[in-house]
Amino acid sequence: MSHADDHEGTRRDFLYYATAGAGAVVTGAAVWPLVNQMNPSADVKALASIRVDVSGLAAGSQLTVKWLGKPVFIRRRTAEDIERARAVDLADLVDTDAANANKPGADASDENRALDEAGEWLVMMGVCTHLGCVPLGGSSGDFQGWFCPCHGSHYDSAGRIRKGPAPTNLPVPVAEFVDESTIKLG
Ligand code: FES
Repeated sequence: MSHADDHEGTRRDFLYYATAGAGAVVTGAAVWPLVNQMNPSADVKALASIRVDVSGLAAGSQLTVKWLGKPVFIRRRTAEDIERARAVDLADLVDTDAANANKPGADASDENRALDEAGEWLVMMGVCTHLGCVPLGGSSGDFQGWFCPCHGSHYDSAGRIRKGPAPTNLPVPVAEFVDESTIKLG
């Protein structure tokens, strides 16, 4: 990748982050008056689930949204990302559990990590499983996925830990497509 490409990728990630941040704030503001009138259990329930419009996300880009106080990465993977992740032998993985709340107990094959069958969409918590830093995206690290610079953990393009001190794969939260351009978290 050229330096120019790299810069472009960073800028794109930033723009998506900024857009998502603004969206999250608007959602929060819209929800708040309703929440005020509800009892505590209903208000917790309302905030435990958000909808994210992913229609503007191009292949090879990542949207980062804040959910339950933590970053969630939504990546629209390229064909290369998918191919690389699916070519990995399970025996080469550090953590063989999918860590996918939508598929409890499944193995960590790429098919069990991705949101859709084709593997284009990957949704996961953006919190390093070592000590909680936010890993860098943009196909970074030795496995062209995510890299946590805090202590050097490398995740592959399926968010599986491959090298470094992090013990487990980046967790996939409860998530689903509710229509062709909206992902619901929680
Ligand atoms: S917090 Fe990510 S490697 Fe330590």
